[in-house]
Amino acid sequence: MRISLTPTSRVLVLSGAGISAESGVPTFRDAGGLWEGHAVEVVASPEGFANDPLLVWKFYSSRRARMADVVPNAGHHALVALEAELGDRYLLATQNVDGLHVAAGSQRVVEMHGTLMRSRCTRCDRPAFADTTAYRDNVAPMCGRCRERGRDALLRPDIVWFGEALPIGVLDRIEAFITSAGRDLVFVAIGTSGLVYPAAGLVDATRKVGGQSWLVNLEPPANATSFDHVVLGPAGATLPTLFAP
Ligand code: OAD
Repeated sequence: MRISLTPTSRVLVLSGAGISAESGVPTFRDAGGLWEGHAVEVVASPEGFANDPLLVWKFYSSRRARMADVVPNAGHHALVALEAELGDRYLLATQNVDGLHVAAGSQRVVEMHGTLMRSRCTRCDRPAFADTTAYRDNVAPMCGRCRERGRDALLRPDIVWFGEALPIGVLDRIEAFITSAGRDLVFVAIGTSGLVYPAAGLVDATRKVGGQSWLVNLEPPANATSFDHVVLGPAGATLPTLFAP
């Protein structure tokens, strides 16, 4: 099955953990409902962080350390090629925090859940900063700027956790793209279980404006029946030939 685009088509891609699976990045929900052995609420919620910041930092530090060996796969590269063809008629919204779309060369990207490779202070208004450090100490990292001011404040990964709002402007940018595309919208969800909102609701927003929706996933996810077309298979093998010339 292939997606035929017209000269007025506007493509909104939503990617999830599945697109990075072939790069060796583990997805979030394994067979036991755990994320690398941890319940998601322990390592991906403000409550979990307040309860045990060191455990949470160990978890993200190990993910950071592993990213050093990870490279984008054919799925990421296929989206870069699609963007090169479509320009402003393309937008990529990703739930992934692994930075692989940007590493592959994608430019029109909205990182809905932040990124693993940035940290921010839990207290001061210092902007989030690039941080690839895999912290090894037995204490969670602290904000250097707050320390200069004589107070202690934890750093945290610049990631949106469960129960937290998306960064300002993220949903506006996606919604503006959907609204301006209208019936020309081609929404393509790739490698996502369809469980986490607001991303999971984009397929309904697409239907409302009269666009068409596609799903590329290894297996049918929770909201598979909401899509007009479903392509089952690994993203890296499927995406390079999905968009008809
Ligand atoms: P999930 O782990 O929930 O789902 C990944 C989906 O990808 C599953 O439906 C798999 O079947 C599918 N999949 C696995 N390998 C694939 C492959 N090679 N090609 C195509 N599909 C494949 O990940 P997400 O849906 O991204 O949030 O999870 C959504 C959010 O929940 C994440 O951003 C994260 C998480 O908890 C936060 O961290 C806030």
